[in-house]
Amino acid sequence: MTSVIKYMSLLTTFSVFAALISIVWQAFLSLKQLNKVTTILTGLLALESSFKKPPQPYKVAVGYGACTDLLVHATEFLNYSEKVINAIGPEFTVNEVDNMNELLQTFAYYFQNGAAAERIMPNKKLFRELIQTAKLRHRDSIQWFLGGNAPLMSTRFHIEGADVLLGARMSHKLRRLVPAEIKIAGDQIAEDDIHLILEYKAGDTWGPIKTPRANRYILHSDRNNPHMNSVEHFDKVLHSFRPRLLVISGLQMMDSYKFEPYVRERRLEKIQQQINSQAFATLIHFEMASYVEIKLLFLLRQYVMPYVDSIGMNEQELENLRQTLTYGRTTLATDWNPRVASTLDQMRSVFKNLAESYYKNATKLPRRRLLSRIHVHTLAYQALLTVRDSKWKRTKLAAAKAALTAHRHVCQTDMINPEAASLILDESFATSAEDKLNGSRIKLNPQQPVPCWNETIAVFDQKAVPIEICVSPVLVCRIAKKTAGAGDNISAAALSQQL
Ligand SMILES: *[C@@H]1O[C@H](CO)[C@@H](O)[C@H](O)[C@H]1NC(C)=O
Ligand SMILES: *[C@@H]1O[C@H](CO)[C@@H](O)[C@H](O)[C@H]1NC(C)=O
Ligand SMILES: *[C@@H]1O[C@H](CO)[C@@H](O)[C@H](O)[C@H]1NC(C)=O
Ligand SMILES: *[C@@H]1O[C@H](CO)[C@@H](O)[C@H](O)[C@H]1NC(C)=O
Ligand SMILES: *[C@@H]1O[C@H](CO)[C@@H](O)[C@H](O)[C@H]1NC(C)=O
Repeated sequence: MTSVIKYMSLLTTFSVFAALISIVWQAFLSLKQLNKVTTILTGLLALESSFKKPPQPYKVAVGYGACTDLLVHATEFLNYSEKVINAIGPEFTVNEVDNMNELLQTFAYYFQNGAAAERIMPNKKLFRELIQTAKLRHRDSIQWFLGGNAPLMSTRFHIEGADVLLGARMSHKLRRLVPAEIKIAGDQIAEDDIHLILEYKAGDTWGPIKTPRANRYILHSDRNNPHMNSVEHFDKVLHSFRPRLLVISGLQMMDSYKFEPYVRERRLEKIQQQINSQAFATLIHFEMASYVEIKLLFLLRQYVMPYVDSIGMNEQELENLRQTLTYGRTTLATDWNPRVASTLDQMRSVFKNLAESYYKNATKLPRRRLLSRIHVHTLAYQALLTVRDSKWKRTKLAAAKAALTAHRHVCQTDMINPEAASLILDESFATSAEDKLNGSRIKLNPQQPVPCWNETIAVFDQKAVPIEICVSPVLVCRIAKKTAGAGDNISAAALSQQL
């Protein structure tokens, strides 16, 4: 008997001891991780502070459109319905969102993948009802913000010291949310379009579904924005403004909208003319967004992409663009945390495709530009590809700035606390998954957190275009406050460092 008790107490002592070791070990590991995050943060901040503001502020013009963002918490707002979700059949597509069931089903799809989505709801009555529900039932938790890619990017350029011209029509109420120094080309309208932003945090659950990351689902039913009416207003002022950089954004508002035949083509033609009436010294950036309609993507390929110097997008938009360019089709949600190697391969593929069509058609279309910059922002890292000795400077600094902005935006803070950040990027990454021969492995050095290297991309297997690639780890915000508008903030922050 006594020996059993002795044995038991020995066992207890032992398990207490084991638990203690485990706690100490865990503490040691998290301290090590915290140390690493702090070192990376220090490195990124050092790069950021190496930026010297130009003596004369750069002029940046940003089109098109504006809206009011109404932010609600997705899983509290949408009532989960087992019946509706279980009715999702094998031929389920996520194109149309015109009734409550379609909204719940598409939301479930993207939420489960943690993928950002933006959808039009042609049913204006239902959309108004949803806005009313948000206003009445969620009065205490909803938030109103200035929205639209162009105003958000403009605000970021302004914060970075640029002289900004924004092409948008907006109400007096919304105008007050745009910094007063930003010039606006566009008349005043009575009512702004509203975008309903359904935000969620990593690990949120909706019925039995759990999301892997923080993101949002955007729903809109715009009257003004799809018609791009600000293009003409913008035109008048743009000519005398003579920007260093012209940003084209907000074109996804034309997605899935029921236009009269050829109206959309004519609007895009107008935008193409606007781009092509710029001096060659003006850099042109196109900010991609979430597109569903393949036809619109083809139109963008025809009217916009051949004439820009730079494009910016997230991992899903990259995959979508690559599929459109190479296979003439699109994908739905993709991996929420793609490997660096596959992102870089897709960037090379997009670059090669656009560069080949540039060299093929350059003589026929004299206003064409060779794409010289691709910026892809993902949750875990920022990847930038620039053509060497092009007009884009300081690629490394831009990658660091993008990474810092990502954390600051999502955590809604200017001071980054290492304890509020986590590192998702692996200790090392391959530079290519497809090209094992020429690819290499890069080990992330916390002291020098932004690796950059040179490559050449073979175009038509004869012409070699020299490029530089930089990848910066993102210190991911642990408790997301806001994901909507992050891409705009990040893209503009990076561009502002490269002029
Ligand atoms: C959720 O359910 C409540 C109670 O039935 C209802 O009042 C509300 O409108 C519903 N919300 C949505 C977004 O349909
Ligand atoms: C340019 O070249 C590509 C092939 O690289 C071709 O598919 C395309 O139709 C050509 N024309 C234009 C306007 O891009
Ligand atoms: C952009 O990021 C900054 C932090 O750098 C943040 O303060 C600001 O609120 C963000 N802009 C928007 C529109 O959320
Ligand atoms: C590696 O690079 C060389 C020269 O740039 C190129 O000719 C070759 O095709 C590349 N290898 C692969 C597997 O793509
Ligand atoms: C990349 O090439 C440029 C010349 O175009 C050179 O100045 C730079 O040092 C190279 N960078 C690396 C990392 O080798």
